[in-house]
Amino acid sequence: MKALFDVLAPEEPDFALASAIDPDRLPAHIAIIMDGNGRWAKRRNLPRVAGHKAGIDPVRITVETCARLGLRALTLYAFSVENWKRPRGEVDMLWRLLRLYLRAELPDMSRNDIRFNAIGRIEALPDFVRGELEETVRATAANRGLELNLAINYGGRAELVDAVKALIEDSRRRDIVIDEEAIASRLYTAGTPDPDLLIRTSGEMRVSNFLLWQIAYSELYVTDTLWPDFSRTDLLRAILDYQKRHRRFGGWGDAAPIESDVALLEVIPTR
Ligand code: IPE
Ligand code: IPE
Ligand code: MG
Repeated sequence: MKALFDVLAPEEPDFALASAIDPDRLPAHIAIIMDGNGRWAKRRNLPRVAGHKAGIDPVRITVETCARLGLRALTLYAFSVENWKRPRGEVDMLWRLLRLYLRAELPDMSRNDIRFNAIGRIEALPDFVRGELEETVRATAANRGLELNLAINYGGRAELVDAVKALIEDSRRRDIVIDEEAIASRLYTAGTPDPDLLIRTSGEMRVSNFLLWQIAYSELYVTDTLWPDFSRTDLLRAILDYQKRHRRFGGWGDAAPIESDVALLEVIPTR
């Protein structure tokens, strides 16, 4: 697959943004809460499903751009365990759109070396969706480029419950050490690095049960753009913003060391 620069002409606005990105400090894993489809449709006096349909193109663009940038993983939140609270008609339509998307995209995923994975309680989905998901996973399993995780019927708490169940099950058969690695290796995302960057569209300042364990130290980026309007430009801006952050993980990060001599204690007045 061609790298991003090979498909951008210098006169395109995204060329300048892409040029500003430091290729050595790209996030390895981006996770996105794709929100705002309903509001997008409402603003246009369209049914909500029109918003979901319009949300497919940004998925394509985002997947393609992440693959061209050479990222390791992209995780997209498509349906939460709480989204079953919505009317049956909307939920049914989402399954149909998902099948359409998977069918249409499989050739591109194969061509672009993308490895598709579905995370969440997939077993509870209607047969026709589950079948299509399993087929896409199988057909792309040998690919070695971008890992594309689609979170469907996903909940961060449900994922932790499933991990704890697996842990208890394994502990009945053998002695296991219970530490962070024991939990992380039983999550749906086992083997994938935690997201470096979490993007949410539509301006909502919440995580809505997404990757609760994995986002402990992710950089957060919220944009008011509604998901159907999310463009390559928005994605590049988010990455540029990420590259300006100073990640410390509780330590000093790469900050220049400051005076830390114990003698300082004597000059700092105490009460
Ligand atoms: C995100 O858009 C897609 C799903 C949750 C399936 P919404 O449907 O939540 O759109 P808003 O938030 O109501 O605008
Ligand atoms: C989060 O969006 C779930 C997905 C994007 C799939 P929601 O629209 O369900 O989240 P809330 O209800 O606004 O928190
Ligand atoms: Mg929403």
